[in-house]
Amino acid sequence: MISIQHVYKTFAAPKASGKARRKGELDTSYTASVSANPALTASSAVQAADEAADALAPIGVDGSVHALSDINLEIADGDIFGIIGMSGAGKSTLVRTINLLERPTSGVIEVDGRDVTALSGVDLRAYRRRVAMIFQNFGLLAQKTVLDNVCFPFVAANGKVTPADRERALELLDCVGLVDKASSYPSQLSGGQKQRVAIARALACEPEVIICDEATSALDPSSTNTILKLLRDINRETGVTLVVITHSMDVVEKICNNVAVLEHGRVVEQGSVAKVFAEPQAEATRVLLGKVDWDA
Ligand SMILES: Nc1ncnc2c1ncn2[C@@H]1O[C@H](COP(=O)(O)OP(=O)(O)OP(=O)(O)O)[C@@H](O)[C@H]1O
Ligand SMILES: [Mg+2]
Repeated sequence: MISIQHVYKTFAAPKASGKARRKGELDTSYTASVSANPALTASSAVQAADEAADALAPIGVDGSVHALSDINLEIADGDIFGIIGMSGAGKSTLVRTINLLERPTSGVIEVDGRDVTALSGVDLRAYRRRVAMIFQNFGLLAQKTVLDNVCFPFVAANGKVTPADRERALELLDCVGLVDKASSYPSQLSGGQKQRVAIARALACEPEVIICDEATSALDPSSTNTILKLLRDINRETGVTLVVITHSMDVVEKICNNVAVLEHGRVVEQGSVAKVFAEPQAEATRVLLGKVDWDA
């Protein structure tokens, strides 16, 4: 079980932007997150930003980005949990805090009852092996064969690849239907095949959780279906928890059991896919579902 409690993430203003903003001069992205709070009016936004800066350093009016605000979610073991939202809503930031590629600015992320946010060194490396990630752009090493790509986690963990590791990697390639491509290079594969290699590589760590960040966004509908079916089958066979980030309600409907909708770094709606699709409450969900009257 992953329990995300009161998680905030603020990115400091890029240093390259030069001059710091003066107090009272609002960054637009921060204004968006402030105005997403129904308790705040536009006229109180500057004051609220100043107050937030006091409460949650380093939030302020200096151009810092309030990417996540008070996120509370529970993801059960074995679940296929969708996280959806428009571009910039905070989806990638949220999952990067789950596998600790980013540390939350504040809040707790408990995995099986243990707060992981302070892990470092050996413990952090061990934790990251429990939470694998696959991406839209596949993230394969171009100079390595398919087999060597799948073996990469063994190198990262142990500094070498044993014959047993190679055997396991071939089994995983068989599982994703690509054992005949073991000696090929990524450039010789289609997008769907590259993603299947990325899935095999993710499985090499025997993860408890696989995070899929827009894993099918670059694929045509047929390859998307192949990948979604593969992920669902792996979930059923191994019990691995899947966290699926997507813009596509179609993807959510096909494989997810539960879903959270993000907007301006906040969870605006969450629940079972059946319920959220049948009775969307938040405007952001209705927009994502295409249930808006554009002429209204
Ligand atoms: N490293 C960073 N430094 C500064 N700001 C960042 C950083 N990473 C993300 N952000 C900002 O945080 C906000 C959320 O970004 P995020 O990448 O999480 O959105 P997203 O929902 O994944 O969007 P998309 O659907 O386009 O991938 C955006 O305003 C983004 O510009
Ligand atoms: Mg993203």
